[in-house]
Amino acid sequence: MNLPEARAALASARRVAVLTGAGVSAESGIPTFRDAQTGHWARFRPEDLASPEAYRRDPETVWQWYAGRYADVSRAQPNEAHRLLAELERAKGAGFFLATQNVDGLHTRAGSERLVELHGNLTTARCEGCGIVTPLPAPDTFTPPPTCPVCAARMRPNIVWFGEYLPEDALEAATHAFQEADVALIVGTSGVVYPAAGLAFETRREGGVVIEVNPEETELTPYMDHSVRDVASKGLAALLGEEPA
Ligand code: NAD
Ligand code: APR
Repeated sequence: MNLPEARAALASARRVAVLTGAGVSAESGIPTFRDAQTGHWARFRPEDLASPEAYRRDPETVWQWYAGRYADVSRAQPNEAHRLLAELERAKGAGFFLATQNVDGLHTRAGSERLVELHGNLTTARCEGCGIVTPLPAPDTFTPPPTCPVCAARMRPNIVWFGEYLPEDALEAATHAFQEADVALIVGTSGVVYPAAGLAFETRREGGVVIEVNPEETELTPYMDHSVRDVASKGLAALLGEEPA
């Protein structure tokens, strides 16, 4: 499939499912995870910061890392890629579904509403006692760890860590949407973490078209009907027939 055919498939699709990863926020200045130079995992070991064991071992250090990322994402602004995806949602209406692996909340701030956050959200915390999720205070007034306003227990970052399960309802909704999709867009993810990366195969298995937007090849590239080798803002603009702003 070439670009004009991919554009035509997307334009005529009644149901579109989108999976995004850290790459869609790269143009907002937020580091990805696996970039060899700037990625989080190039500077930290994920098992030291993004696992239940790390949190049990040293909650203060884990909270300090997340408080720093929370401050970073609060300063970041949604970019053209987030805007184009919110626009695609308005065009497709109930036929649109966005599953993001990102925890930065930028899709919501760009106006996306039909989305699930498969790995949680950095701007909220979850109580270790009663399980409620509450928004974090503004970064400049936030001193971790937060305590639960309901049961006063300590609250943890509302993030899915390595080895943890994704929220079942979010994963179920995403799986269904990708099974039903005429076209799936896979934007800015290395496609190495499951079950998120597996969503692309749900669309393929049902005969849908799968299109990737990524400046580099990924684990999913061999299974794509078309790959747009560009950054998210430009790749999405090319697919949607919009000149980037
Ligand atoms: P892992 O390698 O331990 O895998 C967890 C396993 O559980 C995977 O095989 C996955 O397919 C399976 N699984 C997860 N949720 C499931 C569900 N609801 N139903 C059935 N199977 C399920 O850990 P991982 O996959 O590398 O990471 C686990 C999760 O934590 C991933 O979603 C990952 O993206 C997330 N994570 C988030 C951050 C962050 O900072 N946001 C950091 C690291 C990992
Ligand atoms: N536009 C589009 N894609 C980009 C851009 C950009 N401007 N910049 C980088 N990319 C691509 C990279 O080529 C890479 O394929 O984004 C991808 C980022 O991959 P990762 O760093 O692995 O991030 P992600 O795929 O989101 O990681 C999945 O792993 O650690 C866990 O929970 C964490 O949600 C994360 C999950």
